[in-house]
Amino acid sequence: MKTLAVNLGVRSYPIHIGEGLLRKPELITDHIRGRQVLVVTNETIAPLYLDTIRGVLNGFDLASVILPDGEQYKNIDTLNSVFTSLLEHRFNRRCTLVALGGGVVGDITGFAAACYQRGVAFLQLPTTLLAQVDSSVGGKTGVNHPLGKNMIGAFHQPGCVVIDTDTLDTLDQRQLAAGFAEVIKYGLIHDARFFTWIEQNIEQLKARDKLSLAYAIEKSCTIKAEIVAADERESGQRALLNLGHTFGHAIETGTGYGNWLHGEAVAAGMLMAADLSARHQWLPRSDVARIENLLQCAGLPTSPPAGMDEARFMELMAIDKKVLDGGLRLVLLKAIGTAVVTGDFSSALLSQTLTRAA
Ligand code: NAD
Ligand code: GLY
Repeated sequence: MKTLAVNLGVRSYPIHIGEGLLRKPELITDHIRGRQVLVVTNETIAPLYLDTIRGVLNGFDLASVILPDGEQYKNIDTLNSVFTSLLEHRFNRRCTLVALGGGVVGDITGFAAACYQRGVAFLQLPTTLLAQVDSSVGGKTGVNHPLGKNMIGAFHQPGCVVIDTDTLDTLDQRQLAAGFAEVIKYGLIHDARFFTWIEQNIEQLKARDKLSLAYAIEKSCTIKAEIVAADERESGQRALLNLGHTFGHAIETGTGYGNWLHGEAVAAGMLMAADLSARHQWLPRSDVARIENLLQCAGLPTSPPAGMDEARFMELMAIDKKVLDGGLRLVLLKAIGTAVVTGDFSSALLSQTLTRAA
């Protein structure tokens, strides 16, 4: 087992990474506050892993809530069903919520924990690659609004993150690929050598080689933990973690939540960001080709769906958390391994990127 730390003073917490960790009670129980525990999961994950967690939490005053599965259910109504469960079980403010699932379950559970009685404890047990390398770490929680992705939420850090890499055995290949998008993102924004390592190991990763996956998860979490520790509430460099996300969130909202996976939309969005960077002469075209090739090898889309034309992109991108004083800001690349957040780009060149994409 490897243990990393997210260093945030009194809100610091460990990230444990390894095989079979959901069967190690102390990793989870050491971080539970009080006796009341609500496990939040969904209808797909419950039959796979809920009994294991129930066994580990034997002895606590335990309840569970099973949500419908899908990005289209990451909304206020589903959030409310978690509150209803907490209230029906008379949970008090010393309760702990446990998120067992992918990013959708994690984001909803964390937000429920941030709101319930003005804030209770929660733990992350991520079961998708995407959640293991990104969403379970850093304390961004929330739900979607029909007009904008992740627009309703809060920063609320978990008490620990326990990544049992065995859970990836039951994940389908499309969902695994969606996780690769975020892994590739870390190479692009922060670490050119890691990007090269992914290029060299993408076939092993796709074949679910345990050592390669464990290294990719550990490296991704190390980069994310470092960025979050430096800028917990995204007043600066944390925004780099949004490479491809302004375009990607527009694709997710524009195509209807759940049709394009988050990782797929981010992949297409990262290539759009690379294309725009090249149009500004910041990134050589040969690097754009490298990025496109890696995304394709990973099994990810590299262009947005038909129907997402320039007008639709512009309308949807205007609803983005990086918009300040009405001005759009984007994460763009200065090189593979170096990203910037900037509003200083040419709208004519953006138009070319969006038109080429349509
Ligand atoms: P997801 O939570 O929808 O999970 C994907 C699918 O895999 C679901 O059908 C789920 O039921 C299933 N699943 C989960 N674990 C499984 C397992 N072990 N075996 C079999 N099936 C399993 O999607 P995701 O890709 O995990 O997360 C995407 C969400 O995360 C988006 O809503 C995105 O906005 C959010 N996100 C949040 C952050 C953050 O910092 N909070 C970062 C990145 C993404
Ligand atoms: N996934 C973006 C962030 O955590 O900041």
